[in-house]
Amino acid sequence: MDGNGRWAQRRNLPRTAGHKEGLNAAKQVVKMAADIGVKCVTLYAFSTENWKRTVEEVGFLMNLVLTHLRGEFAFYKKNGIRIRHIGDIAGLPANVAAEIRRATADTAGFTGLTVTLAVNYGSRNELARAFSKMLNDGVTDCSEDSIQAHLDEPALPDVDLLIRTGGEQRLSNFLLWQAAYAELVFSRTLWPDYGADEFRRTLAEFGARSRRFGGA
Ligand code: IPE
Ligand code: MG
Repeated sequence: MDGNGRWAQRRNLPRTAGHKEGLNAAKQVVKMAADIGVKCVTLYAFSTENWKRTVEEVGFLMNLVLTHLRGEFAFYKKNGIRIRHIGDIAGLPANVAAEIRRATADTAGFTGLTVTLAVNYGSRNELARAFSKMLNDGVTDCSEDSIQAHLDEPALPDVDLLIRTGGEQRLSNFLLWQAAYAELVFSRTLWPDYGADEFRRTLAEFGARSRRFGGA
């Protein structure tokens, strides 16, 4: 979900206004995904590298996660949305970590769309923690299955479609293991302007691609 800051700057607004608008875009996309029967959506909300931003911006983003999770239970319930989290929860402020734990527990029984929030997420960090867990568990076979089993959300399927908005063409430490065979779509649209229409067009483009997974 890239481009919030630029969206705001173009309107002479503070970057935080872009993040607020970005949350609306996320809700629109999540709602549409739930309506059309997508099984899993993972949103990259805050990376392990985003701590480099100003304390004001970091604080605003943390607060946005917190208040969103507190206020949206009715939205999750109505749409059957199950909330999950990936990332280093131990590195988050205690109140944000507690709210994430509460939201995942409260929505655990919902059976529609799974929305995974990547907050304080970095793929290398996740893999390093996975390997540490394996050492602690005394795992002796370093197989793909055992690595998968030690990820933050082992049951999440591989990524089918990875969308990055905002014009940059890079993965920025997102789901490097899980996106091994993902179809990549880079959109120049700034995230707050990304909505249901473009999401629908992107899904159509995805549907037209030929996926061979290395086969002939
Ligand atoms: C949103 O966009 C990314 C986060 C939610 C941290 P940016 O904040 O990176 O926006 P740009 O790239 O500065 O426009
Ligand atoms: Mg950016």
